[in-house]
Formats: sequence, structure tokens, C-alpha cells
Amino acid sequence: MKPILPGAPWLIAHRSMLGVNKPHKITLNGQDYVIWQNQKGELFAIDNICPHMQAPLSDGWICKDRDTIACPFHALEFDGQGRLYRENKKDTQPIIKQLELIVSNDCIWTYAGFEPRLPIPELHQRIVDEYEFIGVTGEKSIQGDFLSNIMVNYDYNHQNGTHKELFRITSCNVTSFEHQGYYATVKQEVKRAKNTLGEIIKNPAMGIIPKTLNNMLEYAFPSTTVVFAESPIGSIAQTHILYPETENRTKTFILFYAKAINPLMKLLFKKSFLSAAATIIEQDSTMIESLYPREKPKIRLPNEEIMFYAEKLYRDW
Ligand code: FES
Ligand SMILES: [Fe+2]
Repeated sequence: MKPILPGAPWLIAHRSMLGVNKPHKITLNGQDYVIWQNQKGELFAIDNICPHMQAPLSDGWICKDRDTIACPFHALEFDGQGRLYRENKKDTQPIIKQLELIVSNDCIWTYAGFEPRLPIPELHQRIVDEYEFIGVTGEKSIQGDFLSNIMVNYDYNHQNGTHKELFRITSCNVTSFEHQGYYATVKQEVKRAKNTLGEIIKNPAMGIIPKTLNNMLEYAFPSTTVVFAESPIGSIAQTHILYPETENRTKTFILFYAKAINPLMKLLFKKSFLSAAATIIEQDSTMIESLYPREKPKIRLPNEEIMFYAEKLYRDW
């Protein structure tokens, strides 16, 4: 496939998603890679195709004494630089291509071999400086092209349709939109109707999320959308990550951060907030997966320039 947005920094995983000495498969721009971390937290990433008879290395296992991955087919071993390991010694030359990683605050980034065109967004550093990492949620591979997926994040009119269920959103007003290059901020006011008791029992967060929310969104195109919101459990920074797996599959997950959380509230509501965030992904992806092929819209809604700004960044890349 023709790579999507080559030279963009992609956040392919958070360390907590990898486990220890477990092969983890990543697909980025049509290429499969296997990535793993050892007990010391060192990371390794190489192409996923075994150069012997093309088995997927990610189905194999890690030999932790040697930091190698064993192929599931004939058990040949390769190290994190892609060198064959045989009879207790490593070849000098790699036979598998390595994927270069940049690790920052437990976030694993890559340019996948392309010349960098944008730096890793400093937005992530700002969040980590202020907030505590709570967890990863909503990890999903969505059947839908990257553009459709990213446009949803910049779409201020889908809340009362797509997110009507559970969140009971009745209106979403944009009070400011500013952008500078690939970076943008939006302020929004979201109003919600009351949840039923059944919904609150199903997800207790719905009982404490206010009926009016004044959220701030920050965008670092193309990888990151952060929703900063005030909630009774403290301030949250819900960080939505996207990257293109293939032409018509897009990967997403949410890094959930919070600050000034009362420990009791955290204990009570952590699961519920993570599950509410995962529901947002579920609702967005169900909508995207149901769409007919894109055509020029015959109707315009307010604030759609935010969405078209993102589309323009994508098309002019
Ligand atoms: S296919 Fe990997 S060892 Fe044979
Ligand atoms: Fe959404």
C-alpha cells in the first residue's frame, strides 16, 4: 500500500500494553512488526515475517535468557536487531529489518523508517508532567480508513447522534477553535440529559459526570486528540491515539490520565471511567464501520470547518 502520512510520528503502543517477554504484533501502514519488552524494560521491534519460510514471528515466543524471539514454525531465533541466533552465537549481520522506536514516558513512537516531518508532540510531555497515568482503554482495530477515523475526532456534530446512548448528550457547542499548523485547540460545552437508574447501575460514572461539561480539546495531528475535562474524580486528560494499520483499517486506543484524584474516588470509579471511555470508541467505530463510501456532503452543519481543517491537513500532507 501507499503509506499514509509518511514521516508522521506514530504512537504505536504504551508500555503497559506489551506485558513482559510477550510478542506483540503491530501493523503500521501495511507492514507487520513484532515488538516485545524484557524484564528490564528494554524494547525490541523487528519485521514480523520470518526470513526462513515466512511464518509470523508474533505467534512465536521470547527466549528471555537471550532476548531473542523464536519462530513458531521451526523455532529459529532472532534477536532485537534481526540477527539470526544459532548454536549459541549470533550472526554478525541482521537478516530481518529492525523497527526504530522512540520511547518517551512509556509511550512507544516510531516513524517506521521515514524521514521525520513532525516532531513527537510536546502535548504528551505536558500531560505526563501534570497528570497521573490511569490506564489504557478502548484498544481497537477499526474497519475504516484513517481519514474517516480522524475526521470523527474533529466532528462536533456527532455527539448527539453517535454518543446519544449512555452519555445522553443533547447538545454540543463549540465556543472557540484555534489552530496553528498541525496543532489545534477547541473549547466545547456539552449538555447531557439525565441517565436512567439502569444506566447508572450499568456504569456508575454516569451518575457523577455533570450535566454540563466544559471541555478543552487539544489536537496534535495526526496521532493525538486529548479531551481535558473536569469531573468529580478530578481533572482528566483522555488521550485518543490513532494510527493507520492498512488502507482500510485504523488502530485506536485511549491513554487515560487524571490528576488530583481522591484515592477513594479513584478506587470506586477507575473501572467505570475506563469503561465509559471504551464505550465512546465502540460507538464511534460502529458508526464508521457502517458508513457508505464517502461523497461530497449536500448539507452543512455548524463548526464543520474544524473537521475540514483536519481533512485539509491530511490531503495536503
Ligand atoms: S519459518 Fe521461521 S523458522 Fe522456519
Ligand atoms: Fe465520538
